Amino acid sequence: MSTSFEHELHRAEALAKEAGALAIEECKNGLSVDPKGVDDLVTNVDIAVEKFLKERLAGEFPDDGLVGEETGSQAGDAPRKWIIDPVDGTLNLAHGVPLTSVSVALEVDGHPVVGVVYHPWMNELFSARRGGGVHANGEAVRVSKRNKLAMSLVAAKPTRPHLAQFSNVARASRDIRRFGTAALELAYVACGRLDGFFEYGLQPWDTAAGQLLVEEAGGTVSNDDGGPFNGEQPCMVASNGILHAALLAELKV
Ligand code: IPD
Ligand code: CA
Ligand code: CA
Repeated sequence: MSTSFEHELHRAEALAKEAGALAIEECKNGLSVDPKGVDDLVTNVDIAVEKFLKERLAGEFPDDGLVGEETGSQAGDAPRKWIIDPVDGTLNLAHGVPLTSVSVALEVDGHPVVGVVYHPWMNELFSARRGGGVHANGEAVRVSKRNKLAMSLVAAKPTRPHLAQFSNVARASRDIRRFGTAALELAYVACGRLDGFFEYGLQPWDTAAGQLLVEEAGGTVSNDDGGPFNGEQPCMVASNGILHAALLAELKV
């Protein structure tokens, strides 16, 4: 078996693009929103796209485990797991904001080795395999070289127990951005449009592909103590690497 993951990368790219096109098509056919909570929604689009991705991945990679936000895990103790967020940005979708992404990652023994984030509304595909760098629509990209937090654009969510950290970073940076799709925010860090990112309370399907994108683009990903991020911790911090210590310092309150 090849361990370069080139085949898996190419299939994840193709399936994420098909999944994104399906999301737009399903939206046009009508959106029905089922509230799981005030800001935790699921729509017919999330369900249809996850079904599509799981069926196709199961057909092509029958020995691999599958984990998706909407239908849970069929991974058991498989060493290889596909981690899927069919629609990252469901709240945007529910409000008619055309800003969502599809996130597909392959993890081996808990580490992402393939990561693809597709923004169907802009037809932008960000993809990486471990050791192979990052491409945005086929062009190699890297993190930014910005070296002053004061000149940096940082993605963050103002979560209630962490408003002090949010306001510290808002004050110390050039400005904050909040897209409502963490996977796409991480892809933007990877290609240098954003310089940093932090968020508390994310799930593995939000972060698995984006983590690999940032790392393969030369950036740094950690938890809020600066230690390794494993997808399960309460806070994920990502940056171009140069700014990482400065960003972490603003999170200490
Ligand atoms: C959400 C998005 C959002 C983040 C939330 C996630 P969903 O994912 O990634 O940016 O702030 O914490 O739950 O629910 O739209 O897949
Ligand atoms: Ca998500
Ligand atoms: Ca989702």
